[in-house]
Amino acid sequence: MSAIKPVLVVAGVRAGGTGAATAAAFARKGYSLALISRGAEDLQALVDELKSAGSDATAFPVPSYSAPSISSVFQSIHTRYPSPHYAIRAALYNASHSIRKPFLDLTLADFHAAQETIVEGAFAFSQEIIRVFKENDIDADTGKRGFLIFTGSTTSIRGNRTTSAAAPAKWGLRALSQSLSKEFGEWNIHVAHAIIDGIINTPFSRSRFNDPPNWVENEDVRLNAEDIAKAYVYLAEQPRSAWTWELDLRPAHEKW
Ligand SMILES: *[C@@H]1O[C@H](CO)[C@@H](O)[C@H](O)[C@H]1NC(C)=O
Ligand SMILES: *[C@@H]1O[C@H](CO)[C@@H](O)[C@H](O)[C@H]1NC(C)=O
Repeated sequence: MSAIKPVLVVAGVRAGGTGAATAAAFARKGYSLALISRGAEDLQALVDELKSAGSDATAFPVPSYSAPSISSVFQSIHTRYPSPHYAIRAALYNASHSIRKPFLDLTLADFHAAQETIVEGAFAFSQEIIRVFKENDIDADTGKRGFLIFTGSTTSIRGNRTTSAAAPAKWGLRALSQSLSKEFGEWNIHVAHAIIDGIINTPFSRSRFNDPPNWVENEDVRLNAEDIAKAYVYLAEQPRSAWTWELDLRPAHEKW
């Protein structure tokens, strides 16, 4: 009899970003990886890279984070990682939609796009994950059936100029995570929310500037995806007598 393999499911991964770094960190802890993302080619390249580093990883591309596409991707995940050989024990919802525009320039389509990727996707993802977690046994070390974390940002708690589409969605995500944390704590399901309050040094964030921005070389003013991943692993391993719902992370010199 072989042991049951733990699986981490991540929604929202890009090369060099928070989702990818978290996947690599959990792989080092012995997890198999189910990675959900838009952009099938980039996702497959990332999965190939993880596999060549010795991880068991599978790409699950989605056309969008709408509830129907989340529901259908979970059918594929259960086929690839069937119970009882595998058990989904950790999940990260990291899919986000960055949109910054003055309020009167926003369209209803902009508003809905942020809501779909950030809130509807997280709602559908959480239902799939929590149904699975409820069937898990309680881990002897951590006292939990499963660990579900959401990536938030500055806009999760502070609206600002140009955040009138993104902030309502990110606040909604935070509210969802708090509601689930309270409802499922008594099931020994650990739900957490991380506020990433600063710029993350990733190929994607760098590509949004013309010249290499000053924060690329300055460790004091930006976050590394690998360091965020370390915090996520720490939360996943917290024992049941001291669970964090919300964690905030920012670089040393962040002006907040
Ligand atoms: C993952 O979360 C970070 C922090 O909110 C965000 O910047 C990034 O765009 C997200 N990744 C994806 C693929 O949505
Ligand atoms: C709010 O937006 C202004 C630009 O309009 C920016 O300078 C400031 O840093 C932002 N504040 C936060 C908390 O993001």
